[in-house]
Amino acid sequence: MTIIRVDKISEYEGQEVTVQGWVYNRTDKGKLVFLLVRDGTGFVQCVAFKGDLDEAVFDQLVRLPQESSVIITGPVRADKRAPGIPGGYEVGVKKIEIVQAADVDYPMSLKDHGADFALDNRHLWIRMQSQWAILRVRATVMAATREWLDNNGYAEMSTPILTPAAAEGTTTLFETEYFDEGKAYLAQTGQLYNEANIFSFGKVYCFGPTFRAEKSKTRRHLTEFWMLEPEIAFCDLDGLMEVEEQMIHHIAQRVLRDRKPELLSLGRDLAKLESIQPPFPRMSYDDAAKYLIDLYEKETDPEKKELLKFEWGMDFGAPHEAELTKLNEKPLFVYGYPSAVKAFYMEPWPGRPEVCKSVDLLAPEGYGEVCGGSERVSDHDALLARIQKEGLPEAAFKWYLELRKFGSVPHSGFGMGTERVTAWMCGIEHIREAIPFPRTIKRVYP
Ligand code: 4AD
Ligand code: MG
Repeated sequence: MTIIRVDKISEYEGQEVTVQGWVYNRTDKGKLVFLLVRDGTGFVQCVAFKGDLDEAVFDQLVRLPQESSVIITGPVRADKRAPGIPGGYEVGVKKIEIVQAADVDYPMSLKDHGADFALDNRHLWIRMQSQWAILRVRATVMAATREWLDNNGYAEMSTPILTPAAAEGTTTLFETEYFDEGKAYLAQTGQLYNEANIFSFGKVYCFGPTFRAEKSKTRRHLTEFWMLEPEIAFCDLDGLMEVEEQMIHHIAQRVLRDRKPELLSLGRDLAKLESIQPPFPRMSYDDAAKYLIDLYEKETDPEKKELLKFEWGMDFGAPHEAELTKLNEKPLFVYGYPSAVKAFYMEPWPGRPEVCKSVDLLAPEGYGEVCGGSERVSDHDALLARIQKEGLPEAAFKWYLELRKFGSVPHSGFGMGTERVTAWMCGIEHIREAIPFPRTIKRVYP
């Protein structure tokens, strides 16, 4: 008995195999029952012929409810018409064990459901083909990210989730009582700790859950998401952009290599991912602002004009980013944002203190920011001045300031939102489908 993975079924043509999984769909055609079985790695059509099975067993199959768990043994046959993922093969049912006949009232039938219903049933919704495909892509995005970093000399460091202070603005902090120590906050970033780590390890990354009490209810914000954050010693802004484009290219290539059937099942245009080739175009914030101001001034539709309102100094909203991403097929780097709209730790532009050495990577097709990063302030007194100016608690940053006293070097890093990259790779609308159990301001269940 060879238990196979459905995604490898093409290797077993003509052989007798065993598939363990769940009945996703069933069609009866008189003497034939077609079961679409999913095993976690794919979906395969299993064909039961009345003449091959005991009458009692066949009668059970005719009535077998969706989601019943089964173990099926039989020969693998190539058939171009066979549905499934990857598809093109079917298994003849010579033997079937029904591990459990599911209850008949499965709530997530294969029709379309409203968003709220689907989210309330997320524990079952993740079994659906589209959700399964998206989350498989996500797992590959994460594996590819780690693979690239591990192969390029980065050490993975786990940074704390419970932290003593804000790093990305005080308005998005989740706080909790912390014994006799006062308040602790859920990490908005692991960056500050990685800035300590580089002085021991050179190149590091952290990859973990990140929390933002974002009041924004948009299709690209979660309150809990997974951020990848590399940090690199002896690296300036140009060096950082090169790292980002190499890594993003690797992720896209690996998703294309390993997740083609899933992408095709989602209707993704693969050419969009194939065009993610370095170098990515670079545009200064100044030029981006000029372009947006021009667009704004030319816009005649009053509703659109309101959305496109822009002047130098503003941060980009989603509509602005969407306009900028229309300029290229490839992802776009926008660098040199006004310091006022960015975090306190960003190195000022030489000779232009109102601008900082920051860079956002905007994904095409309207996806917008998927990575945000910068060169960090490496001078002790300049950093202290920034902390004081922002009114941040100096005591909580004592250790962070001290890093600038003992062998300070130019260094840079960025954060990548796993769910945003996954949504982009999959071509889906909302990032809440790009994480197994999404957390938003309106949802902590299930
Ligand atoms: O631009 P952000 O806020 O940057 C930082 O946190 C830096 N400390 C990172 C660094 O330099 N080490 O976040 C980085 C990325 C964004 O580009 C976005 O992709 C994602 O994290 N992100 C979110 N994803 C989902 N929901 C949210 N609320 C997000 N906020 C940020
Ligand atoms: Mg950002």
